[in-house]
Amino acid sequence: MAQLHQGDISAELIDPLDFDLGSIFKPYFAYAQGKAPPQLQTLTDKIAAADGYVMVSPEYNHSLSPALAHLLNHFGSSLFSYKPSAIVTYSAGQWGGVRAAVGMRSFLSELGCLPVSAMIHVPKAHEVFAEDGSFLEQADAEKWMSYFARTFTQLTWWASAARNQRHEIDPHKLVPAFKRDPAQRNAP
Ligand SMILES: Cc1cc2nc3c(=O)[nH]c(=O)nc-3n(C[C@H](O)[C@H](O)[C@H](O)COP(=O)(O)O)c2cc1C
Repeated sequence: MAQLHQGDISAELIDPLDFDLGSIFKPYFAYAQGKAPPQLQTLTDKIAAADGYVMVSPEYNHSLSPALAHLLNHFGSSLFSYKPSAIVTYSAGQWGGVRAAVGMRSFLSELGCLPVSAMIHVPKAHEVFAEDGSFLEQADAEKWMSYFARTFTQLTWWASAARNQRHEIDPHKLVPAFKRDPAQRNAP
């Protein structure tokens, strides 16, 4: 988080465990205007206000975390699209969640927040980070921070470029969201 707070950039942590979506199966866009449950409305406002996303996930069965997928599945692409994302994965094993990351590229592309090319993978995460997120080995901290910076620099460059272009031209007017039927996406 500290690395993301630079200049005029601010970041907010959204932990799926802080939002009780357990009994909410309907996606946000399926509710009538103003009728969505408060948790969904809060998340919607946060997602809409952001210029980019850092998607952090452990690897579970070579996939992204079910908690993150569940949260993201409550929202359509109109909230995320035309903004970039960065993929950060970790695992207890030696691959750092790369297999989850490959799947996350498709998932996030479908949401419209295309992932930047540089990804962050943290193998044996329990040997790298303490509970509070600090580095267990201070001697390695600089190497990790420089590794993270590559991804975050790509993200902030794209976020700033996309924000400027969204202000120039509203993409949702150029490419209207499908409202009627999923078949509207089909080839003729
Ligand atoms: C159901 C389950 C499936 C897992 N699958 C994988 C896996 O496919 N690859 C891997 O490297 N680690 C796997 N792990 C280990 C997790 O990545 C590791 O425990 C991680 O630190 C969990 O993060 P969390 O404590 O934030 O949930 C799995 C753990 C669980 C509980």
